[in-house]
Amino acid sequence: MAIKILVAYASTNGSTQEVAERVTTTLRERGLEVDLQPAKKVRSLEGYGAIVLGAPLYILHLHKDALHFLSQHQKALSGGLPIAIFAGGPFGKGDAEEWQEVRRSLDKELAKYPWLTPLSVEVIGGRFDPTRLHFPWNLVPALKNMPPSDLRDWEAIHAWANSLFPDS
Ligand SMILES: Cc1cc2nc3c(=O)[nH]c(=O)nc-3n(C[C@H](O)[C@H](O)[C@H](O)COP(=O)(O)O)c2cc1C
Repeated sequence: MAIKILVAYASTNGSTQEVAERVTTTLRERGLEVDLQPAKKVRSLEGYGAIVLGAPLYILHLHKDALHFLSQHQKALSGGLPIAIFAGGPFGKGDAEEWQEVRRSLDKELAKYPWLTPLSVEVIGGRFDPTRLHFPWNLVPALKNMPPSDLRDWEAIHAWANSLFPDS
C-alpha cells in the first residue's frame, strides 16, 4: 500500500526550503503522496509512513527547529518510522576538506540522538548571501566579507530524493 510522506524543513534564509520543495516534487513525480511543512509547525507524525527532514548547519549546529523536531517526535522516530535527513552547508570554498568538515559537524549533531537511525543522511550544499546576514552575524567581518555562494547541486538533490523509499 502507498505510504504518505512528510517532508519537514528548518530554514532561516530560504535555501533549505527550496531544497525541501525540490525533494517533494521529485517524490511526487514518482506518484507518492507528500506533505511539505516547516518543521516547527508539525505537531504529530501520525498518518505518515516515512519522514524527510532538512536543515542547514549554523555555527556547527543543526538549525534549532530541526533539533527540536527530533526531540519532539522521538517516540515515533525511535519506534520504527523511517527518516531520511539532508543538511545544508558548506558555504565557503566548497572544497573536499570543507565537505568533510560539514559531514563531521552533522554526524556530531546527530550523535546527540543515539536512538535515531536514519535511512540516509545527505549533505546537500548551502547558499550564502552576505547581504542577508542578520544580527549579530552582520557585524562579523569574516562573514560580512565572504563572497556569495550557492553550492547546492540540483541534479544530486534530485538523484538523492529519487533513491529514497525504493519500495514505495
Ligand atoms: C551565520 C552563519 C553560520 C553558518 N554556519 C555554518 C556552519 O557551521 N557549517 C556549514 O556547513 N554551513 C554554515 N552556514 C551556511 C548555511 O548552512 C547555509 O547558508 C544554508 O544554506 C542556510 O540555509 P537556509 O537558507 O535554509 O537558512 C552558515 C551560514 C551563516 C549565515
